[in-house]
Amino acid sequence: MNNQSVLVTGAHGYLGSVLIGELDRRGYRTTGIDNGLMSQVQVPLRNGRYVAADLRDVADWESLLAGVDAVIHLAAIVGDPASGLDNDLAWETNYLATVRLTEACRRQGVRDFVFASTCSNYGLSVGAAADIHTALHPQSVYAESKIYSEHHLLSNAGDGFNPRILRLSTLYGRSPRMRFDLAVNVMTAHAVNRGEITVHGGTQWRPFLHVRDAADAFIRALEARPATTLRVWNCGSSAQNHRIDDIARIIAEAVPEAKVVHEESAIDSRDYFVDFSSIREDLGFLPARVLADEVRELAAAVRDSRFGGCDRPEFSNYETLRAVVAARSGPPRGAGGAAQLTRQGV
Ligand SMILES: NC(=O)c1ccc[n+]([C@@H]2O[C@H](COP(=O)([O-])OP(=O)(O)OC[C@H]3O[C@@H](n4cnc5c(N)ncnc54)[C@H](O)[C@@H]3O)[C@@H](O)[C@H]2O)c1
Repeated sequence: MNNQSVLVTGAHGYLGSVLIGELDRRGYRTTGIDNGLMSQVQVPLRNGRYVAADLRDVADWESLLAGVDAVIHLAAIVGDPASGLDNDLAWETNYLATVRLTEACRRQGVRDFVFASTCSNYGLSVGAAADIHTALHPQSVYAESKIYSEHHLLSNAGDGFNPRILRLSTLYGRSPRMRFDLAVNVMTAHAVNRGEITVHGGTQWRPFLHVRDAADAFIRALEARPATTLRVWNCGSSAQNHRIDDIARIIAEAVPEAKVVHEESAIDSRDYFVDFSSIREDLGFLPARVLADEVRELAAAVRDSRFGGCDRPEFSNYETLRAVVAARSGPPRGAGGAAQLTRQGV
């Protein structure tokens, strides 16, 4: 039983809603922060509370962090398409809010900090499997903003501040806050609802991880007292590196009535095969779930209409943010924030 106090940002989100529930179940005291931009899902907590706050603009960090032992920072504009809708918003949320949170933690003496980064940072990795020393080739503002955040956190390590970074695989599976804009989830939903599994390209490699296994990895990173100074781990497992074509085949086995359709438009250029040996060696992390089983489970839930229509905008970060951007008055902010920040050398 652990009664540490953990602050989880992005607590209403796809991963956050699973993780905060699991921390609560394991006896942690939790505070969930979210601004409700993408989700308002609040899983019930026995020993925790939620605070509605926008991390870009916290008036009173002192009260927010009072009594907090550790922070798990998940809040972000998540995904390449959503981040590309408003580059300034993506940079403010994913990078500047991380800087402010890091500085507030250091001021307040919060020692332990676990950050959600992404294997998207590798972008294109040809040849050997990407380990944490492999050159990064971000293909989006999303990945760029995560890389800048990693740098900031690592450059602040020491003097009692102990940041740890998990570069996550692409997640899949059921969560209280469902996302049907993630490859496995959307392809499974379309297989059931449309009888079609659309594959854009197909030969690209990508690592996958169940959202509940990801929550377990975060708790391991939080609890780790590693003997080495390593602070960055790829989060996933080598066995779950798949080509998109493999994913389509696994889904087609679970949903035999669906046919696979290849499209050569809108191909996601990301292509990376990732090495996960260090998270297994340092944190003892191996996922408990197997993709094929979880696809069957998800397909059954979609068939039972448990989600009431997988195409609803609330299940997609891009569609949710697109509606927010469209409702804004004034000229669109558009792209350009990334370039400006990069020029400023941030
Ligand atoms: N889902 C994946 O496949 C995946 C893969 C790699 C990395 N990650 C990382 O994991 C983390 C969680 O992702 P997710 O899939 O749960 O995404 P999500 O969009 O479901 O959750 C993000 C949450 O952050 C909140 N948020 C956004 N801006 C905020 C702000 N300014 N202040 C407070 N809250 C804010 C949103 O309302 C949302 O609830 C993210 O950091 C993401 O980059 C996710």
